[in-house]
Amino acid sequence: MVTEIAAEMHGAQHRGTVASYIPPLASVPADKFGLAVVMADGTVHTSGDAEEAFSIQSVSKVFALTLALGAVGDQLWSRVGREPSGSAFNSIVQLETEQGIPRNPFINAGAIVVCDVLLGRLQPREAIAQMLRFVRELAGDDTIRIDETVAQAEQDTGFRNMALANYMRAFGNIHGDVGMVLGTYFHFCALAMSCRQLALAGRFLMDGGRSEGHRIITESRARRINALMMSCGHYDNSGDFAFRIGLPGKSGVGGGILAVAPGIASIAVWSPGLNEEGNSHLGQLALERLVQRTGWSVF
Ligand code: DON
Repeated sequence: MVTEIAAEMHGAQHRGTVASYIPPLASVPADKFGLAVVMADGTVHTSGDAEEAFSIQSVSKVFALTLALGAVGDQLWSRVGREPSGSAFNSIVQLETEQGIPRNPFINAGAIVVCDVLLGRLQPREAIAQMLRFVRELAGDDTIRIDETVAQAEQDTGFRNMALANYMRAFGNIHGDVGMVLGTYFHFCALAMSCRQLALAGRFLMDGGRSEGHRIITESRARRINALMMSCGHYDNSGDFAFRIGLPGKSGVGGGILAVAPGIASIAVWSPGLNEEGNSHLGQLALERLVQRTGWSVF
């Protein structure tokens, strides 16, 4: 079925628009498509460009949130909310009337606070190394790396993120050095992973906090991260994603989506063309077909 869906996507006419704000993303061919499904029994199904590393961008916000909850637990929720924003991923407007507290950890402002929380205990270099160790361990793959060209391009063009961080600093919700917080955030966005690696890394969310039998986080924390992915993982497109696909999912502007069918499968899809809200157009379509054919929606 994974092969069948990849073949259908290969022939798709409308593929969305590839992100153009930085050259390393703008130059990715729009015809790329990869799909990887890791089943609860460990079986892996892949098709298309599932072995090719791409910029996971905001999908990294899931791993950053997991690390921050590990560091400070539920104290995190005094600094970031748990509600869908209904706004664009890089929007600043709600911060003004909501005391610099971002709506959720999956919009840019929320992920920047998450980075600041991680830097409460670590230097940027250590936090970046911790993230890399974490995803490598989850995926069981030491070849995962951070694309420094992407990190530098994010830094060179990240004026909105700088505005968000400085604005939250003014409200007292960024405690550390803004430059260091953003440097960490940009490096997380620049993680490069293939669909196979991403789906393997998502196993802990499929299996109640365990990955290959090892406990990564508690079952209740895994349930809550999945709940946030369902309600907030696709920005102002999250309602539609839940409606069409019915799985917890997190997207990135590189065109990747990590989706979780709890107890059943961890799924990663990649197609660089985006819809208007910055989510992979064919990635969503492929997931929609996958759940229609398998009945994996949680509803
Ligand atoms: O921080 C940013 O704005 C970019 N690195 C994009 C992050 C992202 O993937 C948002 N997603 N759709």
